[in-house]
Amino acid sequence: MKQHYILGIESSCDDTSAAVTAGRKVIANVTANQDIHSQYGGVVPELASRAHQSHIVPVVSAALKQAGLSPSELNGIAFTAAPGLLGSLLVGASFAKSLALALEKPLLPVNHMQAHILAHLIEEEGNTSPQFPFLCLTVSGGHSQIVKVESPREFTLMGQTLDDAAGEAFDKAAKLMGLTYPGGPQIDKLAQSGNPKRFQFSEPRMKGYNYSFSGLKTSFLYFLQDQLKQNPDFIEQNKSDLAASLQATIIRILMQQLERAARDSGITEVALAGGVAANRGLRQAFQQRASSLGWQTYIPSFEYCTDNGAMIAISGYYLLQGGEGAKLDTPVRARESVESLSRP
Ligand code: KG4
Ligand code: ZN
Repeated sequence: MKQHYILGIESSCDDTSAAVTAGRKVIANVTANQDIHSQYGGVVPELASRAHQSHIVPVVSAALKQAGLSPSELNGIAFTAAPGLLGSLLVGASFAKSLALALEKPLLPVNHMQAHILAHLIEEEGNTSPQFPFLCLTVSGGHSQIVKVESPREFTLMGQTLDDAAGEAFDKAAKLMGLTYPGGPQIDKLAQSGNPKRFQFSEPRMKGYNYSFSGLKTSFLYFLQDQLKQNPDFIEQNKSDLAASLQATIIRILMQQLERAARDSGITEVALAGGVAANRGLRQAFQQRASSLGWQTYIPSFEYCTDNGAMIAISGYYLLQGGEGAKLDTPVRARESVESLSRP
């Protein structure tokens, strides 16, 4: 079969990333992070769009150079069409559309949440892909979802967060502790040397497979306020234990619903995806529970957990298999269900 080269462009939030896949293999993946947001404690949409504009040309050029390809050798241009920050999405979409028009190549609009899941189908040495159907817990800065995946084009949303996402819970708690954005990786690091049983925070009792993290955030806030009244140095003196206890609570909440979804559906192929899947505590708890539950587990490499162009390119590969390219007036959307088919 002819080798397909797909360029994938990701610009839905605060990372500008471009990758090239050859079939299901990644031959280039280049990401420019946006440090500008750390001083504001969260992503500032207008600044993100501007940074995408200055990063997109060098990032795409670097990816093509790394792949050793000229643009004319590409077989399709994939980009994140939804969901995400509208201004950020527009930068990637406009660039992808111009390239597709100029090169007369198929334009492949990708659903970002599906792409996080399809990162599991990237072919990597030493890594196997899940068998269909599989369950995927997608945990990122904007989403926490349990999705049943029947094929690369069929996704059923089983449960999702009703308020904050898991990544948001990490980031907001980190901010309360005085850490910079994004706080998730810093909590992860601090938790390594902390006692996860030292402090208790509230855990929701949710029916079905949905999540809620706002109660945890509030209980963390009130706890810190109480402690700080007695000891202004409380956070500084207990930051590892605070991080470890918070992280353990988030992991327990995530795992409880995932285990219920797996038990009820009878599915034993279970995957993690999204930025929070980079969390070492979650990866460990997931593997440990899996062995007692008889699951086959799948976790992407670190570089394919957080936002990346490779997951967009592999999604584009599957879209191309399903038909021709999309029209140039394809819209971008801030909100989009993981179940929506990204139709080429
Ligand atoms: O998937 P992603 O890169 O972007 C979105 O689509 O949102 O996820 C970003 C989120 C942020 O909330 C960040 O704090 C969190 O993933 N994150 C982590 C870790 N690495 C990234 N959270 C906990 N532990 C980590 N190691
Ligand atoms: Zn993401």
